[in-house]
Amino acid sequence: MGAEEVVATCSGANVEMVGGLGVDEVIDYRAMAPLPDHLARTYSDRPFDVILDTVGTQALYERSPSYLKPNGVYINVGALEGFMWSLWCWAKNTLWPTILGGTPRRYIMFSTVPNGKSAEKLADMVETGKVRVVVDSVFGMDEVLEAYDRLASKRAKGKIVIKIQDD
Ligand SMILES: NC(=O)c1ccc[n+]([C@@H]2O[C@H](COP(=O)([O-])OP(=O)(O)OC[C@H]3O[C@@H](n4cnc5c(N)ncnc54)[C@H](OP(=O)(O)O)[C@@H]3O)[C@@H](O)[C@H]2O)c1
Repeated sequence: MGAEEVVATCSGANVEMVGGLGVDEVIDYRAMAPLPDHLARTYSDRPFDVILDTVGTQALYERSPSYLKPNGVYINVGALEGFMWSLWCWAKNTLWPTILGGTPRRYIMFSTVPNGKSAEKLADMVETGKVRVVVDSVFGMDEVLEAYDRLASKRAKGKIVIKIQDD
């Protein structure tokens, strides 16, 4: 979407795959734990414009003034750490005024509403190679529970596909 430089995080086993998707730098968040400390050490002199959190890591947001520009934006789309926890963090991060101790960075919790128009746009981005889709596994309709188990593992390497009908 026009970013000049992209830094991504994943665990060691996925570094090669994520690097192959075209990011400029990959950080193994386990080897560099705790990640906020690593980012503060490495990026405080060249802070990010945008942080896109696909996990929902509260500590990453609370420490973000050390590596996110003052006019930067922190976008959370993740709820891997639990839906209720994410809801609580949303309230805290958006309603707690900076003057009373809230984190002085803009926080957006974003959720998609699937619709035909955005599906078409996404399909176009895939067809023109702007988005490369990594497929972890493909399940049939009779294997939906196994597909959920794979999703619940939180270790899928890419998308889990459920095939509704044959082409
Ligand atoms: N806002 C929305 O509208 C919306 C819609 C769909 C999904 N989501 C959210 O988007 C996120 C991703 O969805 P998904 O279906 O791709 O989930 P997923 O299949 O469960 O994602 C698994 C991936 O997350 C990585 N991961 C787990 N913990 C991590 C951490 N602490 N730091 C970095 N990476 C970590 C794992 O990589 P490693 O094994 O390398 O750690 C694994 O490859 C979820 O949080 C989901 O709730 C949001």
